[in-house]
Amino acid sequence: MFYKELKKKILTKKSKICVLGLGYVGLPVCYHFAKKGYEVTGFDKNVLKLKNLKKGFFSSNDINLNIFQNLIKKKKIKLTNEKSFLKNSDIYIICVPTPLKKNFMPDVSFINDAVKIIFSNFKKGSLIVLESTVHPGCTREYVEKYFKKKYTLSSDFFVSYSPERIDPGNTSFNISNTTKVIGSNCKKSLELTSLLYKRIIKNVFLLNSSDEAEMSKLIENVYRQVNIALINELTKMSEKLSINIWNTIKASSTKPYGFSPFFPGPGTGGHCIPLDPMYLFWRAKSKNFHSRFIKTANKVNLSMPNYVVYRCQKILPKSKKNIKILIMGVTYKKNIDDYRESPSLKIIDQFLRLNYQVFYHDDYIKSLQIKFKNKKIKFNSIKISKKNLKKFDLCVILTNHSYINWNLIKNYSNKIFDTRNVFEPKKDRIFLL
Ligand SMILES: NC(=O)c1ccc[n+]([C@@H]2O[C@H](COP(=O)([O-])OP(=O)(O)OC[C@H]3O[C@@H](n4cnc5c(N)ncnc54)[C@H](O)[C@@H]3O)[C@@H](O)[C@H]2O)c1
Repeated sequence: MFYKELKKKILTKKSKICVLGLGYVGLPVCYHFAKKGYEVTGFDKNVLKLKNLKKGFFSSNDINLNIFQNLIKKKKIKLTNEKSFLKNSDIYIICVPTPLKKNFMPDVSFINDAVKIIFSNFKKGSLIVLESTVHPGCTREYVEKYFKKKYTLSSDFFVSYSPERIDPGNTSFNISNTTKVIGSNCKKSLELTSLLYKRIIKNVFLLNSSDEAEMSKLIENVYRQVNIALINELTKMSEKLSINIWNTIKASSTKPYGFSPFFPGPGTGGHCIPLDPMYLFWRAKSKNFHSRFIKTANKVNLSMPNYVVYRCQKILPKSKKNIKILIMGVTYKKNIDDYRESPSLKIIDQFLRLNYQVFYHDDYIKSLQIKFKNKKIKFNSIKISKKNLKKFDLCVILTNHSYINWNLIKNYSNKIFDTRNVFEPKKDRIFLL
């Protein structure tokens, strides 16, 4: 009975959707469903974030600000931190953070919290979809099992796992044109979730278990982590062999099959690559399986910030007195405003420890705080000009944002260490990772 009712509601856009967690993942989900005509409640516990969202302070390639604000005006999107607004929802989509604990164990506390909030405002016959990146078994153990305490799966409630695959800063692929993987341990849940996402996404790929869908997301992340680590190691090796790795990758990429290029960099950052593979590592370890690949790749990628500092030291004068370093870009990848887990933070920390004077430029991050020797140090992004650039002994390119005038950097910096292959190396002045 509930199944048919919800199916009809989804098809007629009468189903009320609640998205929990309005970050990089949750906000575009809210926007796309509201744009299609659904009534969406965006629930977040962070009051400051809600205020900023209402003012339009966020960056997403996937959201048109005017349309977003219009949807709020028309009450198609309601942004709130009040739990009572969840009471009338038919569908709950969970997009909360999934960090790692110190011992590399997944921290599921945000998911637990979201599940409890849904449970205490739950209406029979509703669908819950988990989108956060999690370890295999998480949906079953932390969502399904919790609701089974009071309700029956497939008749009173429905559950699926559908990983988010957004790539912030990517202007070609967004929610609508990226196939949505959906997995559920219940056929009716799978059908309802597929019907739901087909309203906003062209293609869906269905799996008959939530574990398989969870694993599929982690395979994508491990694949990137391991290949990035491999190319990072080959980059270190190439330096010893006096080979330009960037030219070599270009050459290998001409093979039309069997090769996908990955590029070296100062280390991985963001909420995904440095963390997600470790969920799988932990899960496998709990079943007495030790993944050597994930562990080694993590180690290699974590070594990159130190390696960048080591290479820079080789360029800089021996005496560290009054040496000024300019960091170009602090976000973990170009054209986005996210510096969570960014290798830039570790590189700045290392330079400070070595008593260099450190400055940075990044229009996406106007200021940042670094915890250094138990103190918080505030940095402000400095302006770039001919005069300014000449003051620095070394400019270290960590993020190659498109807006930066690279000719200016090239022509007026004393020395450059380029971790992103922005420039062709010029002897004695521009050095490549
Ligand atoms: N950022 C990405 O590129 C990306 C891509 C794919 C998947 N993911 C995964 O998606 C999930 C969310 O990532 P994100 O980058 O959007 O995180 P985020 O930190 O940008 O946003 C999460 C939001 O959830 C809110 N929140 C925390 N607990 C809550 C609760 N109990 N109820 C309601 N709101 C709550 C926080 O205040 C925050 O605004 C993570 O599991 C992440 O691994 C992220």
